[in-house]
Parts: sequence; C-alpha cells; structure tokens
Amino acid sequence: MSALFTPFTLKDVTLRNRIAVPPMCQYSAVDGVVNDWHLAHYPGLARGGAGLVIVEATAVSPEGRITPGCTGLWTDAQAEGMARIAASIAAAGAVPGIQIGHAGRKASANRPWEGDDHIAEGDPRGWDTLSPSAVAFGHHLPKVPKAMTLDDIARVRADFVAAAVRARDAGFKWLELHFAHGYLGQSFFSVHANTRTDQYGGDFAGRSRFLLETLAAVREVWPENLPLTARFGVIEYDGRDEQTLAESIELARNFRAGGLDLLSVSVGFSTPDAQVPWGPAFLAPVAERVRREAELPVAAAWGIDAPKIADRTVADGQLDLVMVGRAHLANPHYPYRAAKELGVERPSWVLPAPYAHWLERYRATDTVTAD
Ligand SMILES: Cc1cc2nc3c(=O)[nH]c(=O)nc-3n(C[C@H](O)[C@H](O)[C@H](O)COP(=O)(O)O)c2cc1C
Repeated sequence: MSALFTPFTLKDVTLRNRIAVPPMCQYSAVDGVVNDWHLAHYPGLARGGAGLVIVEATAVSPEGRITPGCTGLWTDAQAEGMARIAASIAAAGAVPGIQIGHAGRKASANRPWEGDDHIAEGDPRGWDTLSPSAVAFGHHLPKVPKAMTLDDIARVRADFVAAAVRARDAGFKWLELHFAHGYLGQSFFSVHANTRTDQYGGDFAGRSRFLLETLAAVREVWPENLPLTARFGVIEYDGRDEQTLAESIELARNFRAGGLDLLSVSVGFSTPDAQVPWGPAFLAPVAERVRREAELPVAAAWGIDAPKIADRTVADGQLDLVMVGRAHLANPHYPYRAAKELGVERPSWVLPAPYAHWLERYRATDTVTAD
C-alpha cells in the first residue's frame, strides 16, 4: 500500500491523498481579480487527482502584492472570482485551499519572466513598499521599504482578517497564512530584515509578535472546524542555521498553542546571500524535526516529486503532506503518474471518470500508451 495515496484528515477536512499542489503565483490577474486563465488552471490541477490545491499567494492589500499581476482578496469583486475557483476545485474532488499574504519589502516587482526585479522608481506600475524596518532585501530587489508604524501593523493585521473572512465566505476549506519566503511575516521574524527596537522587534518574543497576533486575529474568524495553516521559512541557510531552527521550532510550538493546525515548512529566503543546499527532498529531514519537536503536522515542498521519494517521506513519518509544485505544471495529472509508478491498483481512477474510464479501457486493450 502506498503511503502517498492514503487519506489525510485534519479537523473536519479529509484529503483523498497526501499530494498537495502548493501555492504557485500565476502573475496573471488584473487589479487582483482572477480571470479565464485561473479558471482553467486551478480546476485542471484538481482534476489531476491531488488531495489539496492551494491557490497562489493572494494579497491582503494592494501594496501586499508581489507584482501587479498577483491576485488579491481586499475587494468583493476579487472574492467573487475566488468563489468560482474554490467551487471548481471542489467539484473536481480536491479540497480548495488558499494562501493569503503580504509581500512586504519584496513587493512592487516585475513578473519573473519580465525581470523578477523591483519595478523602477518613477514607473507608474510600482508602489511604495512596507516592512518592519527600512532595510532593503538587496540584489535584484534594492528598493528601500518604509518602516511600518504601529498603525501600519494594526492595519495589515486587520487586512489579514478581512481577507480570511472573504476566503471563508468564498468557500475555501483550508487557509494558509504566508509567513515565508522573505515576505512580510518572514521579515518580522528575520534578523536580516527586522532591526526594530520596539515590541515588534529585538528578541525572539518581539520578532514573533506580528505572526502570533495575526494568527490569533485570523483564528477568531476562521471556522474552528477547518484547517488553519501557515507557511514559514524555518531556516535561512545563512550560517546561523541551528539558532534559527531552534527559534523556529519554538515559534512553531507557539503557533500550535495559538490554534495552528499544520505548518508548511519552507526556507526563509530573507537574504540574497543564502547558500541553499538544493537537492531532492533536502527539506524533508528539517520538516521531520519540526514535526517531532513542535508536535505539529507538517508539509514541505522543494524537489519532493520523484514518486518513490515522496512516498517514503510520508511512510517514514517525515511529512504528513507532500507539496508537489513544478511537476504539476509539467503534468497536471502528476498524481496519476505517481500512482502508476507506485503500483497503486487501478491508477487511472486517481483521475475523474471521463478520463479514467478510457485510460483503463485502453490499458486493457493496449492500444495507447497512457503516460
Ligand atoms: C510559478 C511558481 C510560483 C510560486 N508561487 C508561490 C506562492 O504563491 N506562494 C508560495 O508560498 N510559494 C510559491 N512558490 C513556491 C512553490 O510553492 C514550491 O515551494 C516550489 O515550487 C518548490 O516545490 P517544487 O520543487 O515541487 O516545485 C512558487 C513556485 C513556482 C514555480
């Protein structure tokens, strides 16, 4: 029996297997509103068989977008489009999830295929950015952000709450707070970005405060019976990894106490000088440590797409969920391929009947190569 194809229950939500599509920005929205692209893309992924499909990093406010093409949830028109996406994912048998976030000092950038750098000063497509401190990320993102006032912090926290309410009302069953990848949440925690001397900076408690307060505020409005999760970079690969990881595990325990149901373990990406040890499933042992020491269910991504490796991370108790990103872009029916490779009985039935029936039939008569 393949561990990857066992169901996973968290709160009142059961995923049909342990494969999740992680949030992946499409940079294709206009004014934060989804369109035909997203309405083809997301149900297509869900039809492929994954248990969970998490919609891309969706900004809680206009200045929280990474690029002008990012989706948003600060207006009702944006929520209307998102309700169609959530319904289309659910209709295909996957649980609809969404990641909400604020890009902080990495906001106001060009799309990856248009440079991935900050939009030039004076270009009307750009905007002023916010971060805990007026410290730029550097490298291709040199723009110096405005240091947030206490009012700015309260406003952004309220924006997270409003976006969570819209996500809830749009029909999403799984919420992920984006506290990773050098965006605003991660920046509050990171010594690379946060040089504040008030209650939102300094020691571990100060650097945790924004994240814990935001979690608590969202927990108030997100239904108790649905998973509330976060993505967080527990390690920076900046030479001080043991210290960062120990603090991150302590934070994960505090997340659990604050009502978090699962942590998607990732990399901080708070400094351009990080030396990330890229390789198949390199983050799985790190995630396993968080899972064990913080006693929280975990997910992880980054090169965990070889089916046998993905299966082993679940079988060995390293991960509860495997996030498979780019392999889904290459083949939205990735779960079918994985099921075949892992010897799952009748793998076609990972797909919906209008596909599965014919693949099963053709397999029997051996007239096509169903890959
Ligand atoms: C096109 C693209 C967009 C992404 N957008 C997001 C995002 O919105 N939020 C996020 O947390 N990670 C984002 N990521 C990172 C992915 O969620 C995932 O961690 C990454 O692709 C590594 O997993 P993989 O090796 O299975 O592709 C993105 C990755 C890609 C390729």
